[in-house]
Amino acid sequence: MPQEYKLVLKYADQPGYTPDIDCYLRHGGYEPLKKALALQPKTLPDGKTQSPQEQLRQEVMTSGLRGRGGAGFSCGLKWSFVDRKSGKPIYLICNADESEPGTFKDRQIIHKDPHQLIDGMIIACFANDVKLAYIYIRGEMPDGAKLLNKALNEARAKNFLGKNILGTGYDLEIYVHRGAGAYICGEETGLIESLEGKRPYPRIKPPYFPAVLGLWMCPTIVNNVETLCDVKHIVAMGGVEYAKLGTPNNTGTRIVSLSGHVKRPGYYEIETGKVTIGQLINDPAFGGGLRDGRKLKAVIPGGSSAKVFKAGEKFKLKRKGPDGQVTEQETDMLDLPYDFDSLIAAGSMSGSSAIIVMDDSVDIVEALANISEFYAHESCGQCTPCREGSLWMSKALHRLTHGEGRASDADYLIKIADNIPGGRTICAFGEACSWPVQSFVAKFKDEFVAKGKADEECRAKETAGPSTPPAPGPRELATHH
Ligand SMILES: Cc1cc2nc3c(=O)[nH]c(=O)nc-3n(C[C@H](O)[C@H](O)[C@H](O)COP(=O)(O)O)c2cc1C
Ligand code: SF4
Repeated sequence: MPQEYKLVLKYADQPGYTPDIDCYLRHGGYEPLKKALALQPKTLPDGKTQSPQEQLRQEVMTSGLRGRGGAGFSCGLKWSFVDRKSGKPIYLICNADESEPGTFKDRQIIHKDPHQLIDGMIIACFANDVKLAYIYIRGEMPDGAKLLNKALNEARAKNFLGKNILGTGYDLEIYVHRGAGAYICGEETGLIESLEGKRPYPRIKPPYFPAVLGLWMCPTIVNNVETLCDVKHIVAMGGVEYAKLGTPNNTGTRIVSLSGHVKRPGYYEIETGKVTIGQLINDPAFGGGLRDGRKLKAVIPGGSSAKVFKAGEKFKLKRKGPDGQVTEQETDMLDLPYDFDSLIAAGSMSGSSAIIVMDDSVDIVEALANISEFYAHESCGQCTPCREGSLWMSKALHRLTHGEGRASDADYLIKIADNIPGGRTICAFGEACSWPVQSFVAKFKDEFVAKGKADEECRAKETAGPSTPPAPGPRELATHH
């Protein structure tokens, strides 16, 4: 029986657990930080010396931790790219924007266990020689910002933050910065611009890789809330032990936001790859199945920008057997393990780990129109393909859902969506707005064409007027004679 595995959310939902520091300390809080700060330089077999900071970075690399914000990039590798020779200060930013539609995991940590995030952040900062860090929180989460500020004050009062932390000589300050509420503020370089007080226009990479030219043009690490919490657990249990959780290359746990037409929507923490999409939807420990009398129609597996899966869709996935042999197996969408690699292999992604379930009551054209309207509204407008393309797609979908569609709209939508991504835009929003259109239209094309055709027929009838002239009355008949 698949079960939740609570690592990050171990205490958050326990009765009586509160977000204050005393409660956190009673549950072993800040012990991982103390452990990190107490590390001593280590002599390696080759005679070289490894500093405590290098040891911590090595643990994170060993753990296999991949970013929980969306792209699933290796955290250890990201940290290894930081320019440590420039002589400039290194900054760390916690991305608490949580703006991908369908995602509601980071706010659970912030609201219920903010010290866990701060614990992980201080360790990450120490490991990377950071002296100033920020938590960039979504503007629409004022309570979260208040809770974080309160928690930071509590941590300062106990000298976990500030000057000469716990007498080690290490200084660190963390500030909370509230965004003004735009999806693009979650994109790391847009976020950095916003933090600098400007419009959140994403920066072009290269040259503006945050690890080299980030905040104030200094080396900067941007990590998601959940990723930074994982750092705390990696230090507590060791990278090797952490890597035993989950599956190879998909280590640790993930908090899945499950929404839509399931009986028990909510957030569930699982060992990565140990639970399938079907189990998350149907198992009593998770979604508990669809609403009574309904059938599954589609699943968006990783937040609104992930490509949709159609019920019954099958994929050819490579799997390693117990004998080490790799074979190709046909896998139903519901049997896909919920991890980074399986979902990429199936042509989509786990993204921000937000599953949106749609049953057969859903009008798929309406659903896509809703998603596309969001992206057209949120494009920052710097790149022509994204700014114009997202708007054209939204307009075409608007007419399809307002009785003004055309049978050719399906092909028109695909043509636009195919011409936005693939290096034509500054940031990955180009992909984010195109993937839903490409996948919804390709997989449910008949519904888009049928809607457009019905609208065309309706308009044709209206233009032609009554199709047969009224039968002549007796007087007209008499005149003609
Ligand atoms: C349009 C767009 C929106 C994003 N929104 C978020 C977000 O709300 N939260 C987040 O953590 N990452 C978001 N990301 C990903 C970030 O750019 C970045 O990769 C992430 O914060 C890195 O953290 P991680 O390595 O710990 O995952 C977004 C990316 C794009 C392209
Ligand atoms: S891809 Fe879109 S959101 Fe990203 S920079 Fe270009 S216009 Fe802005």
